[in-house]
Amino acid sequence: MLQRPRRNRKSAAVRNMVRETSLSASQFIFPMFLLSGKGQRSEVASMPGIYRLSIDLMLKEIEECMKLGVMSFDIFPAVPDEHKDKYATYSYAEENFYLHALSAVKKEFPEACIMTDVAMDPYSSDGHDGIVEDGRILNDETLDILGKMAVAQAQAGADIIGPSDMMDGRVGHIRQALDEAGYSEVSIMSYTAKYASAYYGPFRDALDSAPKSGDKKTYQMDPANSREAIREAMLDEAEGADMLMVKPALAYLDIIALLRETTTLPVAAYNVSGEYSMIKAASERGWLDENRCMMEKLLAIRRAGADIILTYFAKQAAGLLKEGYNF
Ligand code: PBG
Repeated sequence: MLQRPRRNRKSAAVRNMVRETSLSASQFIFPMFLLSGKGQRSEVASMPGIYRLSIDLMLKEIEECMKLGVMSFDIFPAVPDEHKDKYATYSYAEENFYLHALSAVKKEFPEACIMTDVAMDPYSSDGHDGIVEDGRILNDETLDILGKMAVAQAQAGADIIGPSDMMDGRVGHIRQALDEAGYSEVSIMSYTAKYASAYYGPFRDALDSAPKSGDKKTYQMDPANSREAIREAMLDEAEGADMLMVKPALAYLDIIALLRETTTLPVAAYNVSGEYSMIKAASERGWLDENRCMMEKLLAIRRAGADIILTYFAKQAAGLLKEGYNF
C-alpha cells in the first residue's frame, strides 16, 4: 500500500503536528446574565452551571475568566418587570443598571472586550425584539430605539455592539447613530444569520424574555434557508458591520462555512443556550462525556469556519485548555 493515512495519526506528537484546527481561549466570548442589586446570584434552572449575577459578583467572575485567558464578554440584562414597557425606554434610560454595570466592568478591566446586546426583548413588555402594533412588528420605528440603545451602551463603555434584533437596515442605522454621537471606534458584530430557533429556550428562561404572544418568525430567519444568509451578509457588510455572526452554531455549521466563503470579515458563531443545555443534561445522566463533547463541538464550530465562538462553555473550556487538554 502506498497510501496509509494512519501514519499521520500514529502518535500524539504526529497528530498534534498535522492538526488543522485549534482552539484558544482568546477566540471565546463568554455570554453572561446580569441582575440588578448587590450580592445576587441565581442559577438558571435550564442551564446548570450558569448564573445570573449582580455586578459585584460578575466582576469576580470576569476576573477568574481573564486568568484563564478569556478576554471577551457579552453581557445581557435580566430586567425586572416594572422597568419593561412597549417601547423599551429603560434600555437607554440614565438609571438603567445594565449601563452602570458596563461602565463598572470597563473601569475595573479596561483591557477586557465588552460586547453588548441591542434588541428590545429584555426591556419590552411584549417580549419582542421590535415594537408590536396589532400583532405586527414595526421595522423602521424600531430602528430609532435601537440607535438610542446602541449609543447609550457605547457611552457606557461597550467595545462591540451586537444587534440581535434582525430588523432590516439596523446595522446601517446603528453605525450612523454611533458615528454621529462620536463613537466611530465602537465596533458592530452583527447577528447576520439569526434563525428562528427553538434552541433559544433556556436563554429566554434566564432573562424571562419570551414573547408574550406570537413568535419571532417574521424577523428571525427560516431554518430552511441558506441563500438568505448570503443576502443578509452582503447587506450587513455594506451597512458597515465589522464582524458577522451565525446563530445558533451547531445546527447551522453549513451556514458558518457558507459565510466564511462569502465574506472577508471575521465570522463568529453563537453556540446558544439550548446547545449548552443539551450537553449538560445528557452528561448529568451519564449518557455523554461532558468535557469531550464540549471540546469536540467547539472544534467543529471552528472547523466549519468560525473565527470566534460565543459560548456558555467559555470558562470551562478555557480551564481545560490551560491544563493542556489534548483532543
Ligand atoms: C435577544 C437574544 C436572544 C439570544 C441572544 N439575544 C433570544 C431571542 O432572540 O429570542 C439567544 C441566545 C441563546 O439562546 O443563548 N434578541
